[in-house]
Amino acid sequence: MTTRDQLTALEQAARKRIKDSHALDGDVGRLVHFYRGWVSSYNLDVGREGYCGPTVVAELASAMQTAYLANDRAAIPILDAACGTGLVGGQLKRLGFRLIDGFDLSEEMAEMARKTGVYRHVQGDVNLNGPLSGYSSATYDITVCCGVFTLGHVRPDALRELARITRPNGFIIASTRKSYADATSFEDEVQRLQDAGVLVTAQCLNDGKYIAEEGAHYWVFQVTGKANAPTEEQL
Ligand SMILES: C[S@@+](CC[C@H](N)C(=O)[O-])C[C@H]1O[C@@H](n2cnc3c(N)ncnc32)[C@H](O)[C@@H]1O
Repeated sequence: MTTRDQLTALEQAARKRIKDSHALDGDVGRLVHFYRGWVSSYNLDVGREGYCGPTVVAELASAMQTAYLANDRAAIPILDAACGTGLVGGQLKRLGFRLIDGFDLSEEMAEMARKTGVYRHVQGDVNLNGPLSGYSSATYDITVCCGVFTLGHVRPDALRELARITRPNGFIIASTRKSYADATSFEDEVQRLQDAGVLVTAQCLNDGKYIAEEGAHYWVFQVTGKANAPTEEQL
C-alpha cells in the first residue's frame, strides 16, 4: 500500500466514524460507548475533514464579548457545553478567555478536555438531553455549544437549559449542522423560546463552513432575564 493509499484509507475511516456518530439516536448508552471508542482519534479525524466549527464559535464569542459585554475578557465565565476533547476551549484560550468551564456526556472525552489544561473545570457524565441540575441559573456570560446540535446527539429543546444557566443579556453560541437543521424542529424551538421571551436571535450565519461534508448554521442568541426563571414544570 502506498502512502497515498494509506492516507485515503485514513480519510475514509474518519468519514465513516463521523457518519456513524450521526446514527446514535440520542441514546445515552450508545453515545457514551461510541465516544469512548473515538476519543483517541477524534481530533485527527475531524482535523482531516477540515472541521472549523470550534474556530467560528470561539470567534463569535470573542466578537460578542468585545461588542456587548463590559467585563475584561479574562474575567468572563464561559461554558463549553459538550466540550468533547476541548477543541473549542483551545480556541477560546487563544482568543484570551481564561475562565472556561466544560462538560460532556462522555467521561473519556471530558478527561481529554481536562488534559488540555485550558479549562478551569470539566465535568463528565452530564446529559444535555435532560435538566442540567448541577448548574445554577444565570452562571455564565457566554455558553457555547459546538458540534452537538447534530443528528443522533442532542434534541433542540436542550436550548432551554442552556438559556437557563446563561446570565441575562449573556449569549449562547451554537452550531447546527445543516442536515440537523433540515431534519429537526430546531428553528421551531428557537421561535418558541423567542415567543416566550426567553431569548432573541442576535445573529445567524447561514450555511457557514463547518466540515468537508457539509456546512452549518451558527447561531448567536441573547438571553433575557426570563430564561432564568423556573419553568412551569419546575414550579
Ligand atoms: C461531535 S463532538 C463535539 C465536541 C466539541 N464540542 C467539538 O466541537 O469538538 C460531540 C460531543 O457531544 C457529546 N454529547 C453527545 N450527546 C450528548 C449529550 N446528550 N449531553 C452532553 N454531551 C453530549 C459527545 O460525548 C461528544 O463529546
